[in-house]
Amino acid sequence: MTTDQRPIGVFDSGIGGLSVLQALQKELPHERFVYIADNAHAPYGEKSEAFISQRSHAIAEHLLAQHHIKALVVACNTATAVAIHELRSRHPTLPLVGVEPALKPALALSQTRRIGVIATRGTVGSDKFARLLDSVQDGAQFVVQACNGLALAIEQSTLPDQAAAAQEHITHLLKTYTQAMGRFGSAPGEIDTLVLGCTHYVFVQNELRALVGPDVQLVSTGEPVARQTRRLLAAAGFLHASPVAETQRLHLFTTGDLKGLQAAAKRWLGLPPHLCQAVPASLQT
Ligand code: DGL
Repeated sequence: MTTDQRPIGVFDSGIGGLSVLQALQKELPHERFVYIADNAHAPYGEKSEAFISQRSHAIAEHLLAQHHIKALVVACNTATAVAIHELRSRHPTLPLVGVEPALKPALALSQTRRIGVIATRGTVGSDKFARLLDSVQDGAQFVVQACNGLALAIEQSTLPDQAAAAQEHITHLLKTYTQAMGRFGSAPGEIDTLVLGCTHYVFVQNELRALVGPDVQLVSTGEPVARQTRRLLAAAGFLHASPVAETQRLHLFTTGDLKGLQAAAKRWLGLPPHLCQAVPASLQT
């Protein structure tokens, strides 16, 4: 334990990473956090690898130079799949944690050995995901569904003038994608475990639950990522020992619509709007 008050940087293409931030704050109540939502460039999952990589590097550099972060959490499956390897080689001494679809935990939970995975097209099309899938096959069947449009609709659902239409679109997409995956339930041959392979999807888990039924386990990654962050901070000797002032605990930034981030932070984490700000123009493009 130390007096190292430098914050932990967290970023996502938008508001999805707030689900990871919530778990991080719970696991590490004495740490400070700076969160960047790259809303102006969401969804990452439908962009090129070169673009996602360029944005991930720009955000990491910004967090290091402007906020002097002591660790970085890439709270986005898509950015992790595309850029974590390069981020690690550019910043070899920075504790870095990524998120990936929780296939191994799902395998341990499933009784029917039929597991659903929903994620962005960028994640399911990545080499990293192909390797992960290969490493866990173990006689189980994984039904993988790319959910084009879903992360964007979840982003839009926080913007007051688009919320109603976005909510309708979310319902339609969730129905379409879950129907395409086959039967959910606990009987043999049914999908009994569903991996939420995009951090945005945690915020529609109630709607998902209503579609797949009460017997299906929904698996997300916030908590294991928070525990891994604690382990890395402890190993580096960077864990902060005592509470920090409330005003210092959290700052949220967006490259996009400030009102959208404020609404999402309030709706899902109960956070006051004054914690949210726009990023400097240098990070906007
Ligand atoms: N929340 C992100 C993820 O976990 C990305 C969603 C997107 O921007 O496509 O994959």
